[in-house]
Amino acid sequence: MASSWTTSSRTGTPRIGGRAGTPTGWYPVARSSEVGTTPRQVGAGGQAYVVLRTRPGAEVTALSARCPHRLVPLTTATVVDGRARCPYHGWEFNAEGRCVEIPSLGPVGTPPPRADLSAPWAVEERDGWVWLAPDPTPTARPPRTHGATPSPEPVPDLPPPDGPVLDNLHPALEHAWHPVALSTDLRVGGYLQTRLLGRTWTVHRRTGGVLAADPPAWGVVEHLGVVWIAPAEPWAELLAVPETADPLAVSGWLPPARSPASAGALADAFLDTSRHPAHPTSGPPEPAVPELTYERGGFSGVQEEQLGGRRVTAVHRAPFQLVRREEDLRTGVVTTVVRLLQPEDADSTRVHTRVLVQQTNGAVSPGALAAAVASAAAVLDQDLALLARWGSTGLPLLPRDELHLRADRLGVALRRTLADFATDRTAAGQTEELQRRATA
Ligand code: FES
Repeated sequence: MASSWTTSSRTGTPRIGGRAGTPTGWYPVARSSEVGTTPRQVGAGGQAYVVLRTRPGAEVTALSARCPHRLVPLTTATVVDGRARCPYHGWEFNAEGRCVEIPSLGPVGTPPPRADLSAPWAVEERDGWVWLAPDPTPTARPPRTHGATPSPEPVPDLPPPDGPVLDNLHPALEHAWHPVALSTDLRVGGYLQTRLLGRTWTVHRRTGGVLAADPPAWGVVEHLGVVWIAPAEPWAELLAVPETADPLAVSGWLPPARSPASAGALADAFLDTSRHPAHPTSGPPEPAVPELTYERGGFSGVQEEQLGGRRVTAVHRAPFQLVRREEDLRTGVVTTVVRLLQPEDADSTRVHTRVLVQQTNGAVSPGALAAAVASAAAVLDQDLALLARWGSTGLPLLPRDELHLRADRLGVALRRTLADFATDRTAAGQTEELQRRATA
């Protein structure tokens, strides 16, 4: 990466503001007094950076504006012990942008070079302003202001990923089952209105229980206690949740929630097994990685945690049907969380969450369901808060747009499945591809 602090001794004509339409030169980006330990997004030469001080009063650091892992804007980072820490999985970057900590690698893991942030060629403070030179510049230092007030360039939008993104209005989502309401919200003879894929739908339960949608849909059904709409012939099936047929299971719903994040991002957060601080550096030396099985229209991943005595199974069906089953191998309690995502609009996703509790060797103890519901609600709240800060508008589908590690296996599987789904490969019969992946 470029040195942040060394400037060249070559000579040239100083200019203020880098306004000559070239990415070389010095760009004023913020007053020195405005830059502290909270990252601030700025623009220089058309590129987005964050500027910050890794300790109060320290020199200013300028770094690329997104975390390379999941492209989270680093304006959400916090400064801890002289490092910028991304809030999503806790990756930490020093003042030069080098990634020095990845919690999911365990205490002996070494971050790969690709995890480093890029930095501008130089950053300097002069006359009360912070200046960036994105590329080598012929002037050793920023120009003097001589009392003038430089005008920083507008802060650019963060660049989108190079590859395709699955957002809430992707055309392929027409070919899917989507949850739109709880069955209990629709009495016989009643109507309800709901948003799906940027449109308003009216669902009617006719006398006799038959469901109908307006505008007409390919299908309207009830499943898992939810009303589902498939606008066009679906390319993937409805998710089976065997626990719902267990007469001894107890079950409850979280109140429906809403997020401005995309359904893809919410699905990714639900499957994530390397979230910070769930796997702190003081955890097991080799964090568990799920065993993955690709299945038609989705996948399942099983993760055994020997020390914790838990087995966690995650199941996904395209596009946004998810299950997380957690078995306590010592007590026999099985907790299943079903997260169903309704892509309402480009900037709105509704989240339906059902929680089931079983006891493999007897009846479910009193209070177990309430505790499981409270735990699921806390996880959901955490996801919603994080993604609201992030503002994700879609899930990148091109692997090289992000940086995947072993602990991201479920996230990679999600992206593969949704990339298949977005190109209708799910419906075409993936036997060969599934076999190839199973042996990869
Ligand atoms: S640590 Fe930044 S997105 Fe994962």
